[in-house]
Amino acid sequence: MRWWLPVLALVLLSPRAGACPARCECAPQLRSVLCHRKRLTAIPEGIPTETRVLELNKNRIRCLNPGDLSPYPLLEELDFSENIISNVEPGAFSNLFNLQTLRLRGNQLKLIPPGVFTKLTNLTLLDISENKLVILLDYMFQDLRNLKSLEVGDNDLVYISQRAFSGLLGLEQLTIEKCNLTSISAESLSYLQNLEVLRLRHLSISALEDQNFKKLYNLLQLEIDNWPLLEEVSPTSFQGLNLTSLSITYTNITAVPAAALRNLVYLRYLNLSYNPISTVLKGSFKDLIRLQELHIVGALLVNPLACDCRLLWILQRRKTLNFDGQQPMCSSPPEIQGNALRDFPDSVLFEYFTCQKPKIRDRKLQHVTAREGQSVSFLCRADGEPDPSIAWVSPQHRMITTRSTGRATVLPGGTLEIRFAQVQDSGTYICIASNAGGNDTYFATLTVKGRPADGAHHANQTLYLSDFNDTFHNDTQVFLKFTLDLKTILVSTAMGCITFLGVVLFCFLLLFVWSRGRGQHKNNFSVEYSFRKVDGPTTTTGQGGARKFNMKMI
Ligand SMILES: *[C@@H]1O[C@H](CO)[C@@H](O)[C@H](O)[C@H]1NC(C)=O
Ligand SMILES: *[C@@H]1O[C@H](CO)[C@@H](O)[C@H](O)[C@H]1NC(C)=O
Ligand SMILES: *[C@@H]1O[C@H](CO)[C@@H](O)[C@H](O)[C@H]1NC(C)=O
Ligand SMILES: *[C@@H]1O[C@H](CO)[C@@H](O)[C@H](O)[C@H]1NC(C)=O
Ligand SMILES: *[C@@H]1O[C@H](CO)[C@@H](O)[C@H](O)[C@H]1NC(C)=O
Ligand SMILES: *[C@@H]1O[C@H](CO)[C@@H](O)[C@H](O)[C@H]1NC(C)=O
Ligand SMILES: *[C@@H]1O[C@H](CO)[C@@H](O)[C@H](O)[C@H]1NC(C)=O
Ligand SMILES: *[C@@H]1O[C@H](CO)[C@@H](O)[C@H](O)[C@H]1NC(C)=O
Ligand SMILES: *[C@@H]1O[C@H](CO)[C@@H](O)[C@H](O)[C@H]1NC(C)=O
Repeated sequence: MRWWLPVLALVLLSPRAGACPARCECAPQLRSVLCHRKRLTAIPEGIPTETRVLELNKNRIRCLNPGDLSPYPLLEELDFSENIISNVEPGAFSNLFNLQTLRLRGNQLKLIPPGVFTKLTNLTLLDISENKLVILLDYMFQDLRNLKSLEVGDNDLVYISQRAFSGLLGLEQLTIEKCNLTSISAESLSYLQNLEVLRLRHLSISALEDQNFKKLYNLLQLEIDNWPLLEEVSPTSFQGLNLTSLSITYTNITAVPAAALRNLVYLRYLNLSYNPISTVLKGSFKDLIRLQELHIVGALLVNPLACDCRLLWILQRRKTLNFDGQQPMCSSPPEIQGNALRDFPDSVLFEYFTCQKPKIRDRKLQHVTAREGQSVSFLCRADGEPDPSIAWVSPQHRMITTRSTGRATVLPGGTLEIRFAQVQDSGTYICIASNAGGNDTYFATLTVKGRPADGAHHANQTLYLSDFNDTFHNDTQVFLKFTLDLKTILVSTAMGCITFLGVVLFCFLLLFVWSRGRGQHKNNFSVEYSFRKVDGPTTTTGQGGARKFNMKMI
């Protein structure tokens, strides 16, 4: 009789201890139940209640209802990745107090209603990436105060509500990628005060807000990757941050955002690769005193470096900076084209990496007198290294560049062209040639005279200074300006006087005509006058009578 007792016990116990749902693999020591790729449409029967790890990824589960998981309160890891879950009801995870990892990646979730994650206070990792979430609602993560890592990538997110991240006091890492988000508000991020790593990838955000990361006091690592619409990082965007690592890669920024970087004095790693960066201004990194690694790889391919004084900062630190093993190459000036930065010994740095201040050629003074409607051109050619850019300043202190449209524009060679000159265009024009080495200026004056009768005949004529031989204006510019101004003042004063005198004269003339007329026609109107006199004997003055008479005439 005794022999079968253990057998009975074994038979009775085995379904419990060794229970495992059909088609699943169980590891009783680890208390795990693994059911990958089993075409399950619901949570299978027979999962032991003490299960700690439950993996149901790559099945065909559609929906998680309240109570589905309540028989397994000891669950610590739960994986529903790559199912077709489109609906998670509030309360689906309600008594999983020990749950630490929850993966819902790769499902069809469009919305996660508030209340789904309540009481999951031990959760440290939540992955809801690769769903179809459109919005993150206020307070949806409210109870997840121990959550350390949140993955929200690859959703159709268009909006993150202002208080969506409220309660995530322990969050250390956040990744938001491949969404239709056009902004991430400073307000919504401000709840993440313990965040250390923020990755923002593949987003259609075109601008960062002022102080976009203002309360992220503990953020160490910020990654802005694949933002094709981002063209500029405003100086205040990173205010409040104390980063050690920053990546801004695959964006459309054309310059190193030097002003925004200024406060990041603890920055050690900076990756600006694969941006169309073409200019690196002198001193861009001068405040980044702890910078150890700088990566600007793609930028060089997109737009090779012009090796001049603007790059001296990089050269002086090229021994301590890490260029990804790929040394930046020079594209200009021609004599060092194709040389890698590393190849230059210190001794020649100041020989090659220099800028030559612009110098305007042909400083003959230009004074052009044109008729209204004519086209006028002023030359301004400058030499310098790198090639200076030319801009003009109008007498009204307006900047005219090659990008200006309208009557006044700067031609590619630096020539100022004013079409259909107007009298008000008259004045002194200043040419400014500038490059990284400095600037040079030069003055030209224009006088436009009102259109004469035969103006149309000359309407097309273009006047160049070279056609002009004004040897009298060989004095200093200041003097020239002064005489010009004096002339203008005299002319305008004279004009004013003439106008004034004209008006006075006209008045006298009128008075004269009137008094004569009054004298001549006095008799004709005396009848009426006398009638009035009868009507109102008090209106006796000649002036009063005259006024009435005048009105009658009208
Ligand atoms: C889960 O959290 C509770 C308090 O909320 C705590 O008592 C318990 O020890 C935690 N369990 C684990 C596994 O961390
Ligand atoms: C963005 O929205 C469009 C439709 O408006 C959609 O087709 C596209 O897949 C969305 N992109 C992402 C990354 O969600
Ligand atoms: C990047 O900038 C260039 C020039 O500013 C512009 O032509 C281009 O369309 C921009 N690219 C994107 C993806 O916005
Ligand atoms: C900035 O970070 C560094 C280390 O990364 C730290 O030593 C320093 O105290 C921080 N400064 C502030 C103001 O938080
Ligand atoms: C810099 O960023 C680019 C683009 O994201 C990446 O491919 C590269 O590995 C990064 N460089 C380093 C050293 O991390
Ligand atoms: C020209 O250079 C001077 C100093 O050399 C500088 O103060 C001034 O701002 C520059 N002007 C322009 C328009 O670049
Ligand atoms: C104005 O110039 C155009 C070409 O620049 C010429 O065809 C036209 O005949 C000129 N007109 C006059 C009135 O000179
Ligand atoms: C300008 O004057 C100089 C001499 O004063 C003369 O040699 C030159 O040919 C003149 N130029 C023009 C365009 O008239
Ligand atoms: C104009 O000035 C230059 C130098 O500034 C001088 O060499 C030249 O003789 C002057 N010409 C006349 C006509 O004064």
